[in-house]
This record gives sequence, C-alpha cells and structure tokens, in this order.
Amino acid sequence: MSELCRLSLFLPDEEATAALGRRLAGRLKPGDTVLLDGPIGSGKTHLARALIRARLGRDEDVPSPTFTLVQSYEAPGAEIWHADLYRLTHPDEVLELGLEDAFARAICLVEWPDRLGRHLPERALRLSFAAEGEGRRLEASGPAGLVAGLAA
Ligand SMILES: Nc1ncnc2c1ncn2[C@@H]1O[C@H](COP(=O)(O)OP(=O)(O)O)[C@@H](O)[C@H]1O
Ligand SMILES: [Mg+2]
Repeated sequence: MSELCRLSLFLPDEEATAALGRRLAGRLKPGDTVLLDGPIGSGKTHLARALIRARLGRDEDVPSPTFTLVQSYEAPGAEIWHADLYRLTHPDEVLELGLEDAFARAICLVEWPDRLGRHLPERALRLSFAAEGEGRRLEASGPAGLVAGLAA
C-alpha cells in the first residue's frame, strides 16, 4: 500500500491553478484518478483544462462536461477522462457512463466526486479548493508520489 500524504497550497490567481495542473499533467499515468472537490466556481475545471492541454501538448478546446457528464481525450500514452458529476442522479449511473472501467485504465479527473458513492476509487489524489481572499486554498491528499509532485 502506498503512503498517504497531505499538502496545503495557496494559489494566488488563476495562473497558479493552471501551473499546478500543468505540473501534475506530467506525473499522472494510466489508472491514476484526481478527485476535484470544492464549490461551484472554485477552479476545478480550470485546473482540469490546463492539465488536459498540457498532456495533449496542444491548446485544445476543453469544455466543462457539465451536461455531457464525461468527456474523453486521446493523449499520448493515456486516455484522459474528465467528468463533472454534479448532475448525476444516482451513483450507479457511474457504471452506465463507463467510469469504473476508465478508473482502471485511463487518467480520470472527477469534479463532484462525492456523487460517486460506493464507486469512489480507493487510491486517488484528492484536491479540495476553497476561496481564500482573491485566490484559492488547495488541500491535497493522496499517494505520496503524486502529492510530492505538486510542491515542485
Ligand atoms: N487560484 C485562483 N485564484 C483566483 N481565481 C481562480 C483561481 N483558480 C481559478 N480561478 C477562477 O475561478 C473561476 C471558476 O473556475 P472553474 O474552474 O470554472 O470552477 P469550477 O469548475 O470549480 O466550478 C475561473 O474564472 C477561474 O479563472
Ligand atoms: Mg467545473
């Protein structure tokens, strides 16, 4: 079992959030899941968008999957799934969306992870955003290797 780790970071502006997404992009591998927690407008999609663009290596249009619930991208070396589960009506819809399979073989970025219920993956990096002044406070917890990469 990998060691769990915690880290608290202050992100003063949206560029700091994007930079964190880009930093994380290079460290994720197939089977890794990032849970993006926090209220509406806290920066979850902003981080996911920067991460996906960095991993794709191009300035792709990355819409918020608010209505589609999931959006997938073919990146070199790994498929990326970006999910926004705010509108999920029942945790078992996760199965219909194919997310359990994606957790096993893709890089998954999940907004509103609490909607997953019993389908929440055991081993995941959780990033929780909260407003702090003009910026955001980010609390990270998860596998030591991934948490350490955030601080670089
Ligand atoms: N560290 C930050 N400080 C200030 N504003 C930020 C920060 N990170 C992101 N934002 C801004 O927060 C807004 C909402 O972000 P978004 O990612 O759409 O929210 P969510 O997906 O959590 O609902 C965006 O306009 C973005 O520019
Ligand atoms: Mg969002």
